[in-house]
Amino acid sequence: MSAPASPEVRPLRIAVFASGRGSNLQALHRAITHDALPAQLVGVFSDKAGSGAIAYAEAQHIAHSHLDPKSFATREDFDAALMQKAAAVTPDLIVCAGFMRIISETGIRAAACPMINIHPSLLPKYPGLHTHARALAAGDAEHGASVHRVEAVLDGGRILSQAKIAVMPDDTPERLAQRVLAIEHPLLIATVRAIAEGRITLSEGADTRVSWLNHRLELE
Ligand code: GAR
Repeated sequence: MSAPASPEVRPLRIAVFASGRGSNLQALHRAITHDALPAQLVGVFSDKAGSGAIAYAEAQHIAHSHLDPKSFATREDFDAALMQKAAAVTPDLIVCAGFMRIISETGIRAAACPMINIHPSLLPKYPGLHTHARALAAGDAEHGASVHRVEAVLDGGRILSQAKIAVMPDDTPERLAQRVLAIEHPLLIATVRAIAEGRITLSEGADTRVSWLNHRLELE
């Protein structure tokens, strides 16, 4: 008698919201195509027609769409349309990867599934913009990146995971941004993998432990 087949883990269906270059999107996609992430990219959505993220999705034949904020009367109208488009690809998770728009509370409530965001600072330090320059101006010895649940507070949802690097004496905001970006990619992949495998749950309250990316590029 043959052993019962182990239940297939259904790949996590991921939609990505991105405004710019799209390197985090590319990192996620590469991890998926190299079987390092049990997930499927079901859609890429952007507020910028000419973004690298949209160009990448197009080149890779990933479903994508662009919505122009100027065609909507209010932020809430834009967010409603965005969430409706995203819902159509039935995602399990929305990943904001360089999505440079504030999503209204109405938009967050309308999301079809949980949403996470990657932010280039060790939250709760430096929500918002210019995080690298702010870390340097403050004389911080360490800087890094965080992945958090999207909640109705700018960059203020429950922190799920973080990775940090040392600030170097000759760092400029640009150099620091480049080194932080290099740890963002493995952090985002490891965090999404932990969600896909149920090691990080998004439905819990606000007080659960933050996972750190350790030197072996796994989440502790
Ligand atoms: C990343 O550094 C990401 O953390 C940041 O934008 C960059 C996008 O890069 N996001 C934010 O600042 C959101 N508050 P990418 O387009 O190459 O992934």
